[in-house]
Amino acid sequence: MSSTPLLQGDEYPPGGGLPLLYNLVYCSRATSDVDDAEVERIIRSAKKWNPRNGITGLLVFGGGVFFQWLEGPRDSVIGLMRILQADPRHQSIVSLTETEEVRERMFPDWDMELVSHDDVRDVLTDALGEATDPKNSAALTLLLEQLDSGQLGELSHA
Ligand SMILES: Cc1cc2nc3c(=O)[nH]c(=O)nc-3n(C[C@H](O)[C@H](O)[C@H](O)COP(=O)(O)O)c2cc1C
Repeated sequence: MSSTPLLQGDEYPPGGGLPLLYNLVYCSRATSDVDDAEVERIIRSAKKWNPRNGITGLLVFGGGVFFQWLEGPRDSVIGLMRILQADPRHQSIVSLTETEEVRERMFPDWDMELVSHDDVRDVLTDALGEATDPKNSAALTLLLEQLDSGQLGELSHA
């Protein structure tokens, strides 16, 4: 089996190798009427659209805060971000990481996985343990530092 799964829209260099990947991680504040059922609706919609756009990642919801890891082709991620910015279910979107690099996907099997805020630290730590690509390790280390220093708001105090 290939260690670099072919996903919709990925740009592979001639002869194979790793794809050029756009990675955007952000935090936002959920609007007051957003509850778990609404988050389930968001996940259903994401699982429908993300595979068509080559987007993978995870979404954390807890303490009124969203945290989302998006990875995929640049145009897809930026296009989705435009839609997200207009979505009234959240506000105060703060970008934490935005990179475009030739590297492996961190979550190739997750169309959009809902992760409980109690588990976000474990998920990022496990991903760091499994990361073989130094650029992924660097991105995850930075996020764990932001989590531990309280920069991710309520998510830091799960
Ligand atoms: C925090 C948050 C994360 C979201 N993540 C995604 C996503 O990863 N993919 C996606 O297609 N829509 C996502 N959405 C929903 C979009 O903003 C938009 O509602 C959706 O793409 C419209 O599709 P629908 O008509 O099937 O609901 C998210 C919304 C919120 C509030």
